[in-house]
Amino acid sequence: MISEKIEKLLNEQIAKEQYAAQYYLAMAAWFYTQDLDGIANYFRVQAKEELAHADKIFDFINNIGGTVIMSKVDAPPHDFKDAVDIFERALAHEKEVTKSIFNIYKTANDEENYATVSFLQWFINEQVEEEASASQLLVKIKMVKDNNSALFLFDQELAQRKLQDTTAE
Ligand SMILES: [Fe+2]
Ligand SMILES: [Fe+2]
Repeated sequence: MISEKIEKLLNEQIAKEQYAAQYYLAMAAWFYTQDLDGIANYFRVQAKEELAHADKIFDFINNIGGTVIMSKVDAPPHDFKDAVDIFERALAHEKEVTKSIFNIYKTANDEENYATVSFLQWFINEQVEEEASASQLLVKIKMVKDNNSALFLFDQELAQRKLQDTTAE
C-alpha cells in the first residue's frame, strides 16, 4: 500500500535522479572540452549511478503496488566557469538531493509507511557517501587546479573509476 502523496514524491524523485544524471553528463561534456577525459569519465560514471538510483525507485514503486509515472526531465545548466565551479555545483546538487530524500523519509515516517522508511534508508546512506566524495573531490580540485602536473595526475586517478553495483542491498 502506498498513499498518493508518497507515490507522487517517489515519482518526483525518479525525475530528480534522472535530472542529476543529465547534470553530471553536462559536467562530463565540459571536461571533455578541456581534454580532461579522466574527470569526464568520473562524471559519466556518476551519471550512470544516478540512473541506477532512478531504477531502484522505479522498482520500489512497482513492488509496493504504486504506479510509476515518468516526467519530463529539465535540461541542466552548461554555463560552467571552471573545474572548481563544477565540483562546487556537484556538491551543492547532492545536498539538494539529500534534502529531497529527507523530505520523503519524513513524510513516510509521519504516515507510518515503514516499507518506504526502510527503503529510503539505503538512499540516506548513499547520500552520505555521495556528499563525502563530492566534498573530497572539491578539496582536491582546489589543490591541483593551478598545477598542470598535479591536474594531470588527478585526471588519471579519476580515469580509473568504473561503475560498481552500488545499488545492491
Ligand atoms: Fe542519486
Ligand atoms: Fe547523487
